[in-house]
Amino acid sequence: MCSALQDKDKCDCGHWSGVCIYQRFIENGKKATATRKYYEGEIVKKEKIGPELLKLIIKVPEYLSERLVQPGSFVFLKSPNDKVTFDVPIAVMEVNRKKSTITLVIKILGIKTKRIDQLKTGEKITVKGPFWNGILGLRHIKNLKDSTVLVIARGIGQAPMIPPLKELYNNNNKIITIIDKGKEGVEFIRPYLDRYSHVNIYTSVIDKGINSGKFEDIFKNIVVHDKVSLVHCDTADFIIKKVMKYIDDIEKEKGLKIDFSCCNNFKMACGEGICGCCTNRRNSNIKRMCKYQGDPKDIFEECER
Ligand SMILES: Cc1cc2nc3c(=O)[nH]c(=O)nc-3n(C[C@H](O)[C@H](O)[C@H](O)COP(=O)(O)OP(=O)(O)OC[C@H]3O[C@@H](n4cnc5c(N)ncnc54)[C@H](O)[C@@H]3O)c2cc1C
Ligand code: FES
Repeated sequence: MCSALQDKDKCDCGHWSGVCIYQRFIENGKKATATRKYYEGEIVKKEKIGPELLKLIIKVPEYLSERLVQPGSFVFLKSPNDKVTFDVPIAVMEVNRKKSTITLVIKILGIKTKRIDQLKTGEKITVKGPFWNGILGLRHIKNLKDSTVLVIARGIGQAPMIPPLKELYNNNNKIITIIDKGKEGVEFIRPYLDRYSHVNIYTSVIDKGINSGKFEDIFKNIVVHDKVSLVHCDTADFIIKKVMKYIDDIEKEKGLKIDFSCCNNFKMACGEGICGCCTNRRNSNIKRMCKYQGDPKDIFEECER
């Protein structure tokens, strides 16, 4: 992806997330730098917060916790006895810098997450990181100040919503949320909402099916009447696409400009831009979505997933 490393004339890294890899290359004596390390973490608290939901607080080295505070931060977790093929990407919900711990919520689904569920409090867990590209359209969150934002989360999407919620709150934005507990059946982020959000609506976004019109009416009403500047969505891709369509309708009907950001749901294996597991092809242009930072609109158009 780095145009400088491809011997092109100018730097063209506007869509790259994280540090400048060309600078790292130069600082490393013009040699490729090592990939991210595996760290030994310790599970200090393991709590079942729903039938399929696991909340973990993990003690990690200070170096790592310090680098996981940004919205979009995530790590790969696995049991120390498992091979790297068991690495599972999980968003960092909260960091306690004093205690050097990270908090994550995991939905137990298949082989990788079931292995993590077998670990007990006090046991070691392998943590690879830091990674930062867990949000598409991140610049809209970073740049928004003194405005109104609508945040939508469904099910496990509540976990990655906390760091952007804090960032938006710290930048003096008014926050409205729509929370759908989803199949998980728990609104586990209520304490955070009490602190950081101004108005909360608890409703199903796919009640009687996404096309029923109920959610669409609620959404369009809020966006227009509260003069929402940014919509952030932590849900499955089919809901993200619907929300993007609603925004498009409003922009065309009312002549408004509304920014959009969402969680990055691409399947990831290495997180380093190497394995190609997260590849998205558009106009013959291949992007590694674990690293590519761009507007969701550009990414979802023509995206066949
Ligand atoms: C940046 C990022 C952050 C994430 N944060 C969270 C989180 O905070 N909490 C949480 O519960 N889940 C999170 N996920 C999803 C989580 O990684 C998958 O649910 C997990 O990998 C499933 O693995 P499995 O073997 O248990 O289930 P499987 O049976 O293998 O898969 C179940 C479903 O999980 C998804 N999935 C499987 N493998 C991957 C993969 N390597 N990368 C992404 N998705 C995959 C697929 O949609 C699949 O249908 C995140 C994914 C990404 C990319
Ligand atoms: S996850 Fe390996 S290239 Fe993106």
